[in-house]
Amino acid sequence: MSGDNSFVVVANRLPVDLTTEPDGTSTWAPSPGGLVAALSPVLERHQGCWVGWPGVADETFEPFRTDAGVLLHPVRLTAADFEGFYEGFSNATLWPLYHDLIVPPIYDREWWSAYREVNLRFADEVAAVAAEGATVWVQDYQLQLLPGILRQLRPDLKIGFFLHIPFPGPELFRQLPWREEVVRGLLGADLIGFHNESNAANFLDLARQVSGPSGSHIGQPDELRVEGAAATREIGAHITTSDGRRVGVGAFPISIDVDSIGPADPAAVAELRAELGEPKTVMLGVDRLDYTKGILQRLLAFEELLESGALDPEEVVLVQVATPSRERIEQYRVARSQVEEAVGRINGHFGTIGNPVVHYQHRSMPKSQLGAYYAMADIMLVTSFKDGMNLVAKEYVATHPDGSGALVLSEFAGASVELEQAHLCNPFDLESVKRAILNAVWDLDDAPEATRERMLAMHEQVTTHDVDLWASSFLDCLAQADSTGDSDGEPEPR
Ligand code: ADP
Ligand code: G6P
Repeated sequence: MSGDNSFVVVANRLPVDLTTEPDGTSTWAPSPGGLVAALSPVLERHQGCWVGWPGVADETFEPFRTDAGVLLHPVRLTAADFEGFYEGFSNATLWPLYHDLIVPPIYDREWWSAYREVNLRFADEVAAVAAEGATVWVQDYQLQLLPGILRQLRPDLKIGFFLHIPFPGPELFRQLPWREEVVRGLLGADLIGFHNESNAANFLDLARQVSGPSGSHIGQPDELRVEGAAATREIGAHITTSDGRRVGVGAFPISIDVDSIGPADPAAVAELRAELGEPKTVMLGVDRLDYTKGILQRLLAFEELLESGALDPEEVVLVQVATPSRERIEQYRVARSQVEEAVGRINGHFGTIGNPVVHYQHRSMPKSQLGAYYAMADIMLVTSFKDGMNLVAKEYVATHPDGSGALVLSEFAGASVELEQAHLCNPFDLESVKRAILNAVWDLDDAPEATRERMLAMHEQVTTHDVDLWASSFLDCLAQADSTGDSDGEPEPR
């Protein structure tokens, strides 16, 4: 692909956020989350531009290039957009709905209006920026109306959509009062991608069930299942829309840029372990502070194992790195206070002066530093109630090329489909989490060779299925997809 504006990525966030330091100065820092972690290296390798929000409300910025040469087109959001579109509809309606109602979604008509408004604004920006016949790759749940609006504004564009979070079963999705509009928005794309086959199957099934006001179906799938497209590079299934377009649907498991996370500097790793007091076993959690991540559950499991004597506080520490996230939303405040209360209680009970058993860090850190944390950890704990992929699991595996370490992984994380050699657990069942942690500890001691084989198998999976494979398989399929077929390309009324 050549020329910045013939390949356009559009996501709610730009890859950098304007961050204000304590001394009042502002700097551009990497934005949080797996979407940016995965797409940044892809955009750096392709010549492309990125349309998104720069992380601060009510400010206008001119387009600029990152140090890595990616052209950024900032979209302005007002404080009211931030509340209604971002905190409201995106993160208090869609996020909990798509994560299987871990907390109840709020259905608010004003938030829905804000969501439509902001999707229209993004569409106007992309329509103004994209070159004739450009490929536009729309990202994630914040922008699900964009493919439909863009198709009307710019029928010359090739439009892909990728969902970075789970897609729920139709019986849950159908709660959404604006379900028909959302499905129609997505069906504006030529190709819709999900992380795994079960998410794609949920969407295919849903498309069959949702009808327009006249009772007619808005889409008919030709299959209800798809095969993973990363290996075949063929679109798994299609949905024929009521206006006769054939929209591709596929499963494309996202991954990581293995080079950007390692190898860790052995001196930095040794220094970290020394700072922790040279414990026998270091456990690690790395998450945005989100209620979907099961951080409290892993702390409770750790606490019960200390209480029962199964783990010895003189031998083990848990390091929990938690990136601040969506901090004004009530459920996130609750999650943070529950986590911090548990950390305090566990340290109060089992720590000694200068020797906490839980080392809690509520901040973001550079990837190189995070890489050293992963490399020094004997056991990584990923205990999400539900997660699209959980790239942190893959990042941990990537930093252990020698097969050291062990991974405890939720069976509800997308990564569990590929990392099946992990110690899988059910985070809704504390006994299951405790069992997986103990198995990991015992295996490291008693079955080192088998543990090494498990880690090496996962390392092979991650390194041979990296983010380049994800992006190239999606973009190859998008190049084949042509939902308009023989249509004359006339825009439909908006
Ligand atoms: P999500 O996208 O929901 O945040 P993932 O596990 O898929 O979850 O991706 C999280 C990404 O954020 C990973 O690339 C990880 O390295 C990064 N990350 C998580 N915590 C931190 C942190 N404290 N500092 C820097 N990066 C972080
Ligand atoms: C997840 C979502 C992304 C989002 C990221 C960080 O990875 O899939 O779309 O950008 O979390 O969340 P935030 O609300 O800070 O953008």
